[in-house]
Amino acid sequence: MDNKVAMVTGASRGIGRSIALALAKDGFDLVLNDIDRQANTLDEVAALIEAEGRRSLITVADVRDKAAIQGIVRTAAARMGRIDVLVNNAGILTSARIEELTEEQWDEVFAVNAKGVFLVTQAVLPYMREQGYGRIVNIASVGGKRGAPGQAHYCASKAAVLEFTRVLAMELEDSGITANSVCPGIIMTEMGKANLPDQASIDKWAAVTAQRRIGYPDDVAGAVCFLASDAAAFITGQSLNVCGGLIFDGG
Ligand SMILES: NC(=O)c1ccc[n+]([C@@H]2O[C@H](COP(=O)([O-])OP(=O)(O)OC[C@H]3O[C@@H](n4cnc5c(N)ncnc54)[C@H](O)[C@@H]3O)[C@@H](O)[C@H]2O)c1
Repeated sequence: MDNKVAMVTGASRGIGRSIALALAKDGFDLVLNDIDRQANTLDEVAALIEAEGRRSLITVADVRDKAAIQGIVRTAAARMGRIDVLVNNAGILTSARIEELTEEQWDEVFAVNAKGVFLVTQAVLPYMREQGYGRIVNIASVGGKRGAPGQAHYCASKAAVLEFTRVLAMELEDSGITANSVCPGIIMTEMGKANLPDQASIDKWAAVTAQRRIGYPDDVAGAVCFLASDAAAFITGQSLNVCGGLIFDGG
């Protein structure tokens, strides 16, 4: 995959960082987005990608901000030449049971997790259509399929991503662009610590997972690289659980 370009949102840490580094290993140049430079961690990811012999471009913007997103995508296409892969990874998690959940918490989570996916996808699509090629991978969650107490707004926003992806695939028809979702399970990241505050919680989640362990960001990156590759040409509108057997579809 020489001279192909991938854009990853929320790329400074956690799952997004792993995805960006794995795509660089697969030969992609990277457009790295995050809401800010995160105390230089975005710059560190860029340096690691360049050490891999690939180009990188840092694009700081909030995925909720349509004008800012249109701006960085325009810059990315101009500077990198094309955008072959978009990974909508940026996301936030807050917790509150429904009776305590505030309107502000609901709106904030939906703005980043659901509207953000729509805005970045809409900004990138004209370039992919022009190329007649594209791979869009949206990071949803097993929570978007099975729910989790205390996370109604988060789970509903991820269910929105799953359905958005299906309709996107339908509308993409024979454009050469595919759109799929990846549903991580319990993954150890800054966000993941909300579910994994201590060793007892890690053990509890491992015990209810078929593989008897929690996941790590690199576990998710492998699935994203596959869906971003030519090998996944006939896969679209699907969702892939990357959860070690925490949940099973169809049952
Ligand atoms: N960690 C888990 O257990 C888990 C499970 C299922 C799904 N996910 C999903 O995976 C994705 C990555 O999660 P993570 O665990 O790496 O989380 P994380 O909090 O470690 O990283 C998320 C990144 O997104 C960025 N971000 C947040 N709001 C943004 C915005 N408005 N604009 C641009 N960037 C923004 C953050 O700055 C951060 O770098 C998220 O979509 C999350 O919902 C995570």
